[in-house]
Amino acid sequence: MIDPARGARVARTAVLALAAALAVPLLMAPPAAADSPLRVHAQARGKFIGFAAATNQLTNDASYRSIASSEFNQITAENAMKWESTEPSDGNYTFAGADQIVAFATANNQQVHGHTLVWHSQTPGWVQGLSATAMRTAMQDHIATVVGRYASNPAVVSWDVVNEVFDDNGNLRTSFWLNTLGSSYIADAFRYARAADPNARLCINDYNVEGVNAKSTAMYNLVRQLRIDGVPVDCVGFQTHLAIQYGFPGQFQQNLERFAALGVQVRITEADIRMQTPRNASKDTTQANYYRDVVNACLAVSACAGITIWGITDRYSWVPDTFPGEGAALPWDDNYQPKPAYTAIHDALDDGSGPGPDPDPDTTPPSAPGTPASSSVTSSGLSLSWTASTDNVGVTGYDVLRATGASGGTFAVVGTPAVASFVDSGLSASTTYRYQVRARDAAGNASALSPVVSVTTTAGGGPGPGPSSCSVAYTISPWGGANGFTAGVIVTNTGSSSLSGWTLTFALPSGQAITPPGWSATWSQSGQNVTATPLSWNSTLAPNGTASIGFNGTHTGGVGEPAAFSVNGAACTVT
Ligand code: XIL
Repeated sequence: MIDPARGARVARTAVLALAAALAVPLLMAPPAAADSPLRVHAQARGKFIGFAAATNQLTNDASYRSIASSEFNQITAENAMKWESTEPSDGNYTFAGADQIVAFATANNQQVHGHTLVWHSQTPGWVQGLSATAMRTAMQDHIATVVGRYASNPAVVSWDVVNEVFDDNGNLRTSFWLNTLGSSYIADAFRYARAADPNARLCINDYNVEGVNAKSTAMYNLVRQLRIDGVPVDCVGFQTHLAIQYGFPGQFQQNLERFAALGVQVRITEADIRMQTPRNASKDTTQANYYRDVVNACLAVSACAGITIWGITDRYSWVPDTFPGEGAALPWDDNYQPKPAYTAIHDALDDGSGPGPDPDPDTTPPSAPGTPASSSVTSSGLSLSWTASTDNVGVTGYDVLRATGASGGTFAVVGTPAVASFVDSGLSASTTYRYQVRARDAAGNASALSPVVSVTTTAGGGPGPGPSSCSVAYTISPWGGANGFTAGVIVTNTGSSSLSGWTLTFALPSGQAITPPGWSATWSQSGQNVTATPLSWNSTLAPNGTASIGFNGTHTGGVGEPAAFSVNGAACTVT
């Protein structure tokens, strides 16, 4: 199975590194075209091929460095960007390892995927023991600082915002995060990351979610709901720590496709394929077939950005330490000899058209899209279309961003269409919205934002502004210390016709303020006046239909309720 020529080339790489160290000149024939490294073939297919990098090996092992730079165009830090590495004690940030990885990637034209911000593992004890308020603050600070450090660094394109939030049954993992903060920590982490770097791809990452199964279905439902709620989840990572004795995951490609249909990028983030040691030829062949099938699944799904292998050589793999009796999980053996797995990955990436002309990863963003043009504007929806972007490799989709109002507000992604048009819905009548769009390519590069277009929805013949029949139930409970509270608000349509699009307004008693973002509505406060507009899924209220929304807030003493509430400008009954 081993291609002798290719095996020789990698061996040469190691020898050359050694020779350079010893300053002994060696004469070698140039490699044949079919010998091109993985990154050349991956680039030609519009995908990345990456590896998990260990700082110690990058520093000390020339053979490792040589393969790291020549074969791959993407890097994930194996440990150097985890919380215990970047903030070992409160507010004490240490970026030596993370910076080393980013510098290596920059020197070798490789993109970096940040791993990982919020995880139950490899997070210091000082975080785990915090109170809810302090833990939320620590999470926000950590994300802002770590993501913020690399936000303008072109090498760092994406982040695992949350890692392994599910247990093996597909329930939310009962981690200290969940136990202390409740499930809202997930959405909050994504919002904090988006605020720290509006252009980074933000991912959720997990294991045993490669095939269609209960756990992957739970993750699918979570990602779907988060996106409905306007939480900025752009990407889903499938770790792909496989073992040949457990079989290949069922419906791997279909699983990637169902996630892609949610509008997210997908990626293979930590591939390794272990076996019960010792190796033999038959196990190596099975392993090679698994690697081939993983690569082919990604190649078959256009939303799949690429594949990261969790290491290079069996010499340093995490597998034997974690799974006793198992190992040999990587494409290169203990002595840097490529295994059949290497050949399988190479040949799957090589579509037969030979190596691409350019071994560099795609770092060229698409051109900015044209100004969106609106059409079919109603009281609750509209269509947008724009002049498509161009790209050196290919545009894979667009982000549509929306802010409410003729000015001010915050632009947030409301859709990620694959084509240069978008239909927005769930809007409020007689309301001005601003839109702009940006393009993405398969490598994750984002274009500049298009110019902004302002569109005002019509008054409509239906509910719209004017008299409406509504009731509001407002419940306060203490939260987050002496000056915090949570308000739960239930808006009911007490009219006899359906209410499509509603805007709730009320004045908070003085000294009170909402703490963004709130939930199940888009909340804003100006002076003491608070406005809540619905999300797409709760914008239409049937007769007797309700929307349960809420927010966390602060007060300076006394948590009185607002005196009055209006929906679409008409007063509601208070219950
Ligand atoms: C592993 C590293 O490879 C080890 O060096 C470390 O001791 C433990 O973590 N899922 C993940 C990775 O998201 O961060 C883990 O990496 C492997 C499982």
